[in-house]
Amino acid sequence: MTELSALRAASLFDLTGEVALVTGASSGLGRRFARVLAANGAKVALVARRKDRLEALAAELKSAGCAAIALEADVIDPAAMQRAFDGAEQALGAVTICVNNAGISRPSRLVDHDRQGWRETMEVNLDAVWDIGVMAAQRMSAAGRKGAIVNLASILSFGTGRSNGAYAVAKAGVMQLTKVMGFEFARLGVRANAIAPGYFSTEINADYLAGAGSEMTKHIPMRRFGNEGELDGALLLLASPKAGAYITGATYVVDGGHTLQIAGV
Ligand SMILES: NC(=O)c1ccc[n+]([C@@H]2O[C@H](COP(=O)([O-])OP(=O)(O)OC[C@H]3O[C@@H](n4cnc5c(N)ncnc54)[C@H](OP(=O)(O)O)[C@@H]3O)[C@@H](O)[C@H]2O)c1
Repeated sequence: MTELSALRAASLFDLTGEVALVTGASSGLGRRFARVLAANGAKVALVARRKDRLEALAAELKSAGCAAIALEADVIDPAAMQRAFDGAEQALGAVTICVNNAGISRPSRLVDHDRQGWRETMEVNLDAVWDIGVMAAQRMSAAGRKGAIVNLASILSFGTGRSNGAYAVAKAGVMQLTKVMGFEFARLGVRANAIAPGYFSTEINADYLAGAGSEMTKHIPMRRFGNEGELDGALLLLASPKAGAYITGATYVVDGGHTLQIAGV
């Protein structure tokens, strides 16, 4: 019979022995994800372009007794990402949790035909998730370790709105890519899932949510945007080798009910 102590939440979500690589850890959701993973026992490799911010976060985590390393890399540069995985592995051990969180928004309507904005959005928000997810799965398999990939989708994976066509297409791609990863990587012992957040105020959207976007709360059943920390549970569930052991290919919506309502009904 299973010991009751093994059924405690702290045991189910314990990440001791895991090594997590988080892209976009210099800001917003990624910074929070790195803190949550570290607080629950994982060693964390922090990846983004702004190294000063990563170093400050690594110092904060180390001073709290956690293992962390700052690794500067652009997610659209596969060679730089291979170096980041190498650096994580040398400092902390083989990566077993990969959080594909880095993302950008380049608002534009399709009729404006902003080719550069479209390409940048696809490269960072979709192509890099594919590249880094494959790297992670191959490395987990080569190390003989089971692992988890957590991709950041969005409620715009399911629908669209004003001036966010490229972003919505990329995030719909992330959700489908997550299904393909879940399907293909299962034989490697690697699970892949996604979180689809509603709106959380971060650098990507703070100006919009404080201005014209504030009107959106009228259409959210919970009548507010998400608060810091309200993705922690979904992250830990999908990253944990115990709590999430049989979950793969899924996209978890965390949006205060934002996607529930069909407008005008
Ligand atoms: N906040 C929301 O409401 C919301 C909702 C749904 C989904 N999401 C998704 O959640 C993820 C995190 O967004 P956030 O809200 O935390 O935004 P954020 O505060 O703007 O953070 C974005 C992060 O991505 C990194 N990044 C961007 N381009 C990069 C590149 N080429 N290479 C490496 N890192 C790069 C940035 O780091 P550097 O600039 O230092 O490189 C930064 O750390 C994104 O995928 C976003 O689409 C957010």
